[in-house]
Amino acid sequence: MHITLKVWRQGSGRDAGRIETIDAPDIATDMSFLEMLDVVNERLIKTGGDPIAFDHDCREGICGSCGMMINGRAHGPEQATTTCQLHMRHFKDGETVFVEPWRAEPFPVIRDLIVDRSAFDKIIQAGGYITAPTGTAPEANNLPVPKPDADQAFEAANCIGCGACVAACPNASAMLFTSAKITHLGSLPQGQAERDARVMSMVAKQDELGFGTCTNIGECSASCPKEIPMESIARMNRDLLRATRRRRRRPGQ
Ligand code: SF4
Ligand code: FES
Repeated sequence: MHITLKVWRQGSGRDAGRIETIDAPDIATDMSFLEMLDVVNERLIKTGGDPIAFDHDCREGICGSCGMMINGRAHGPEQATTTCQLHMRHFKDGETVFVEPWRAEPFPVIRDLIVDRSAFDKIIQAGGYITAPTGTAPEANNLPVPKPDADQAFEAANCIGCGACVAACPNASAMLFTSAKITHLGSLPQGQAERDARVMSMVAKQDELGFGTCTNIGECSASCPKEIPMESIARMNRDLLRATRRRRRRPGQ
C-alpha cells in the first residue's frame, strides 16, 4: 500500500512543533503500525532525514509505552488494541494518516510522538505500599479470595498505564487509570489495611498534577486498549467518599 503520513514533529518540549508530510510507498498490509514507522525511519535515515521519535518497548500490548493519536483516536481505529498491535490492513491504500502525540498538559511532549508520562508514576507512588507480607508466592488457598473479587482485581490489573484514557478525555482526566490501580488492590484482602489512605492520597496527587476531573463522557473507557470499564471510576468515588467520612469521624488517622 501507499500512504501519506502527516506526522507531528517537535524537536523538544521548548519547540512549537508542526505537522510534516511524509510519503510512505510500499507498505505491507501485515506490518504493524510501529513496523511501518520503522520502515519510514530507515528510509528517512538513508536519505539524511531526521527519524520520527516514538516510544515502544514490548510490542505485544503489555508495556503501555507506544501510545499515539492516529487519525485523532488514541491507539488508532481498532477497539481494545494498542498501537503496537494495530496492523496496516486496517488502513486504506492511498489513505492520509495523521499521527500525533498524546495531547494533555500533564504529559508534556519530549520529542515528536514521545510524551513524558511520569505523572502516572507519581500517582502510583502516592498510593504507597501495602503492609501485607510479601516474598515468595504463598500457597493459593491460604488466603481465600471470592471469585468475583479476584476477577474484578484481575480486570483492573490489566491497565498498562498507556495514558490513552487521559489523551482521549476532553478534561484530560486520569480517573480511569487511577481507579484501575485503586480497584486492583482495594478488591483484595491484602489491600484493605491501607485502602482509605491509598484512595485519598492517589486522588489528591492526580488533582495536584493537573489532570482534569471526570464528567462521565466515557471516551476514556472507549479508548482503553484493556477495556477498563467506567464502573471502576464509580467504585473509586465510593471508596473516596467512605474514606473521607471515616477520616472526619477519626481525625488524625
Ligand atoms: S485505564 Fe486503559 S487507557 Fe488508561 S492507562 Fe490504563 S490501560 Fe491505558
Ligand atoms: S510497545 Fe508495549 S504496549 Fe505497545
